[in-house]
Amino acid sequence: MNELDTLIESARTAFAAAAQPADLENAKAQFLGKAGRVTELMRGMAALPVEEKKSRGAAINLAKQAIETALVERRQALADAELAVQLQAEALDVTLPGRRREPGGLHPVSRTLERIEAIFSSMGFDVADGPEIESDWYSFTSLNNPPNHPARSMQDTFYVDLRGEDGIPYNLRPHTSPMQVRYAHQHIKRHAAAFEAAAADPTGNVKAPEIRVIAPGRTYRVDSDATHSPMFHQCEGLWLGENVSFKDLKVVFTDFCRTFFESDDLVLRFRPSFFPFTEPSAEIDIQFQSGPLAGRWLEVAGSGQVHPNVVRHMGLDPERYIGFAFGMGPDRLTMLRYGVNDLRLFFDGDLRFLSQFQ
Ligand code: PHE
Repeated sequence: MNELDTLIESARTAFAAAAQPADLENAKAQFLGKAGRVTELMRGMAALPVEEKKSRGAAINLAKQAIETALVERRQALADAELAVQLQAEALDVTLPGRRREPGGLHPVSRTLERIEAIFSSMGFDVADGPEIESDWYSFTSLNNPPNHPARSMQDTFYVDLRGEDGIPYNLRPHTSPMQVRYAHQHIKRHAAAFEAAAADPTGNVKAPEIRVIAPGRTYRVDSDATHSPMFHQCEGLWLGENVSFKDLKVVFTDFCRTFFESDDLVLRFRPSFFPFTEPSAEIDIQFQSGPLAGRWLEVAGSGQVHPNVVRHMGLDPERYIGFAFGMGPDRLTMLRYGVNDLRLFFDGDLRFLSQFQ
């Protein structure tokens, strides 16, 4: 073996001994670096006669190329090994079972709200939405609620740190009734021409479109036990026209209850009550004639004929426009429909409870 072959061989050995890329670069420097063995050989050529230079140079070049090839191969081998280790460490077992995403579902109270909306829509009611942070005027004053009425007391209404133009703090609406006046305003604005025409007609034959709406949503009171939660739901109903009476309330609400509970075996009772915004007022109780709740009177809504002062606040003439309103508790309806006895279960977010309704 000549001197150059030996050199190539020792380079291969040195490269093979390098276990890390950094070791390999050190080994490279020994052979191909500025002070490396190949460079030394090149320098040594300076002393040779011209005729030998050519063949000697070609031989050194071949040796240099062989060493470079060995270096590239070793680099690749080290990179391959490193990748193999990494792949091994990050290996995915594609045969493991996946993490299943359970199908979601509607909350039982949402189901009730959808049901209420579907039933009243089929009876020609509009469905309206309104703010949960409400002004004192809409929550109380517009509803004929005098300033010293207990419903305004700090005990059951939440107030927020923001005052209206009247200097009175906004509240978290304690009921959906503010939607009566809010919606009436929207309705009258939307049908302004019809209401103006009706008002201008001395014969009374020109009629504006009736107000017929439900307004479901969240409501808030400082209250918490098995049947009360600080956040709960209500659904307001309002039907106002020129000839809408208590009889219509009875028909509509009876129809609603029978459809909602899918039972004709159910009777209603209108029990005299008091609300500032209705006169006369009635609590609506239902009684199932069969099933687990049979025979008990269950309160499901407050109701009454809209008070003339409220009609006035809507911007309408109470001599001409008359009708009824009701406010029911969808949470209560959900408890009755599914036989749940603690309201708080609905708002705990426990999937073991909620998944039973899917
Ligand atoms: N807002 C009343 C309540 O929260 C319910 C109600 C609504 C009563 C409409 C009469 C008419 O108790």
